[in-house]
Amino acid sequence: MKFFVDTANIDDIRDLASTGLLDGVTTNPTLIAQSGKKFIPLIEEICDIVSGPVSAEVAATDYETMRKEAEILRKIADNVAVKVPLTPAGLKVCKELSDGGTMVNVTLCFSPAQAILAAKAGAAFVSPFVGRLDDVSMDGLSLIADIVTIYENYTDFTTEVLVASVRHPLHIVESAKMGAHVATCPPDVIRKLYNHPLTDKGLAAFVEDWKKTGQSIL
Ligand code: G3P
Repeated sequence: MKFFVDTANIDDIRDLASTGLLDGVTTNPTLIAQSGKKFIPLIEEICDIVSGPVSAEVAATDYETMRKEAEILRKIADNVAVKVPLTPAGLKVCKELSDGGTMVNVTLCFSPAQAILAAKAGAAFVSPFVGRLDDVSMDGLSLIADIVTIYENYTDFTTEVLVASVRHPLHIVESAKMGAHVATCPPDVIRKLYNHPLTDKGLAAFVEDWKKTGQSIL
């Protein structure tokens, strides 16, 4: 499973990239607003840090403007994935960009039917939002299961399932069990994956016992 970080915070991106476990970055207009930085230079900076896909989202909702914005975004770097909303206009842009060899991430996916459309439009990634479905008492993870099953039925569907709106480690673990290709996670959720009290307890015991040997490996 690939890990993307869902943030526009450069410090977090640098820190997580240094682990060697980060495969990409996703941003959205909310995250850009939180960063307080200029959009295009920020995406350039992120693309310099991370060699994997970096999602940069269009701001417009109409086809003509979205297409022009997408043209600017795709030229920022080879690893930009242009992010478009799951609307008729967004999928039209997706099809055109994908046919031209640009990675597209179709966002705001909330149903299997929408995910089928994204795959038919040639998206590199579809982003189903598990947390936001959970928030309205729907089962976000069952959407992931449905999309993975559907995509496996068709060899011509090459779209990767990018689990988005991840809120906690179990969203990642359960999605991995289903075979989702990618999880994009807030930085704190990625960091939580390391944690287990028995690891801390076991390590403390090993450190104490090693001291008793009086030895040094170096
Ligand atoms: O970037 C899209 C998605 O991951 C947003 O998540 O937490 O705002 O629902 P959230």
